[in-house]
Amino acid sequence: MTATSILPPALSLEFLRVVESAAIASTRTMGQGDRKFSDHAAVEAMRDAMRTVPINGRIVIGEGERDKAPMLYIGERVGMGAELPDENNPFPAVDIAVDPLEGTNLCATGSANAIAVLAAAERGGLLNAPDMYMNKLVVGPAARGCLDIDAPVKDNLKILARRLGRSIEDLVVTVLDRPRHAKLVKDIRAAGARIQLISDGDLSAGISAAVGGSGVHAVMGIGGAPEGVLTAAAMKCLNGEIQARFVLKDQLHQEDYSKVSEDSDTLARMKSMGLSDPLQIYQTDDLAPGKNIIFVMTGVTDGKVVRGVRFFGTGKRTASLIMKTQPHQVRFVDTVHIEGGPDTVIRF
Ligand code: FBP
Repeated sequence: MTATSILPPALSLEFLRVVESAAIASTRTMGQGDRKFSDHAAVEAMRDAMRTVPINGRIVIGEGERDKAPMLYIGERVGMGAELPDENNPFPAVDIAVDPLEGTNLCATGSANAIAVLAAAERGGLLNAPDMYMNKLVVGPAARGCLDIDAPVKDNLKILARRLGRSIEDLVVTVLDRPRHAKLVKDIRAAGARIQLISDGDLSAGISAAVGGSGVHAVMGIGGAPEGVLTAAAMKCLNGEIQARFVLKDQLHQEDYSKVSEDSDTLARMKSMGLSDPLQIYQTDDLAPGKNIIFVMTGVTDGKVVRGVRFFGTGKRTASLIMKTQPHQVRFVDTVHIEGGPDTVIRF
């Protein structure tokens, strides 16, 4: 398969099945107060469903390193072609980034915006990001190419407001509610914009920022790097933008990241994954260079973009998003999974 060849059109529906399974399994654990249990349910269901997908798949972002994650670990081969050698593998070679449950705490507490997510691309189409932090700036199509993650917050907000045809006071910026963001929050407030502090889930926040009418205009601050790559895959489909830079633990409370980290172990690990410049700013295309991106997500708990899983005795209903770059499509999918036989009533 060449870098530009199109992935089989039906693949997005296969991946839909995979994220639906993860969402349904984890929603069953909603509110149990055990984030690991919720995550485990999602991972098991996702891995099970993945077995029957006709791909020669490789996890590039997953549950972590093999020694810590028994399932969906980075480097794990998945899909129907997993056991076959790459040469003469009859299935398309696909790189996959998964977050079986994005917002483990959100699910464990029954809070909004937990989702099950998967992105796929041709080989090499998604950056192999280590499980570390990343400083991110995410905006929708109107401001694509206009902002600079290194510029003062007020300058970026001024440009964003102009691009959206409104005043800074009309903007809402989503920020993860963490002590490390004290200065960022102060700067956004000083600029006059409004802030939505979230406890978790900067991936679904990033998607909201790129969808008109969501009431969110940007996401700023430090969150997980895997979520950053998944956000980039979504931005390619939504015409939005992410700019990002890796952040090492000893840099977490720095006000700027121009000083190289002294964490030599992490720097060496990054280098071994081909990330030789720790200060590099990654653009959307660096994080998700693929020409054939597929991004699928299913709501676990009710959220801004999709509703959560609903159980109604004779079945369940899931709300999902399937997005692709080739052909360029965004589908909102509402699925009723019928389990109750011929008397089951389907409602609008
Ligand atoms: P999990 O689903 O793995 O719990 O991640 C939730 C999340 O809030 C992400 O959305 C975010 O990128 C990251 O955690 C932030 O990490 P931290 O909680 O360490 O600040």
